[in-house]
Amino acid sequence: MRYLVISDIHSNWEALEAVLAAASGKFDEILCCGDIVGYGPNPREIIDKLQHCGARLVRGNHDKAVCGLDDAADFNDTAREAILWTRKILSPDQHQYLLNLPHGPLPVEGGAFQLVHGAVHDEDEYLYDPAEAFDDLHVARLPLTFFGHTHYQCVFSLSPQGEFVSTFHEPGAPHPVIEMELEKGWIYLVNPGSVGQPRDDDPRAAFGLYDSGTRRLELRRVKYDIESVQKKMREFRLPDYLIKRLSFGR
Ligand SMILES: [Fe+2]
Repeated sequence: MRYLVISDIHSNWEALEAVLAAASGKFDEILCCGDIVGYGPNPREIIDKLQHCGARLVRGNHDKAVCGLDDAADFNDTAREAILWTRKILSPDQHQYLLNLPHGPLPVEGGAFQLVHGAVHDEDEYLYDPAEAFDDLHVARLPLTFFGHTHYQCVFSLSPQGEFVSTFHEPGAPHPVIEMELEKGWIYLVNPGSVGQPRDDDPRAAFGLYDSGTRRLELRRVKYDIESVQKKMREFRLPDYLIKRLSFGR
């Protein structure tokens, strides 16, 4: 099976459209590591699109906050403001869709690999640091885990001999940014990056392509119409900080 693996769309329609166009013909199914809503201006359209595509996904912390599974008390002011705005405009069915999203780890292909939002040991934890990823690789149980949450496109891996390797996307790198064949016996944690709000100093939308037959992985970036998204965010009076950061990928 060929998968489009995405994460942290954050209600960014233009970014998701650009990713789907760039990946067109290269995948059979969409897998998503959560945070489909929050921050951006098109939560309704994103939910409808993912439902229409039959995407398989796990819930993220913003998905939980929007549907009330989390009170958003730990969120910063701008994130909370966007959460409250998103809550108001979703339909009851869309609200229910978020409520029904499964928590990770979600096994795929009978447990050949899995999806989580934050980390294997805790769906809300961040794996920014190689040391944290190193610990999570030891509790992953499966040879491959896709994760999101940090909005950083990267691969952490552990060889059968215990060699630990971390590979991060370099801003401005051509695409595919990272490409590799996953080795048998190794354990991998792969973050496809954020579709809708990248934070690794590269404003282009991030995504991954994984072929489970050949074990080939590609992590890519694609430009999208950031100004259109920002215009809608201004119209909806979403926080200025959230609007500006899209230009810089931070
Ligand atoms: Fe996120």
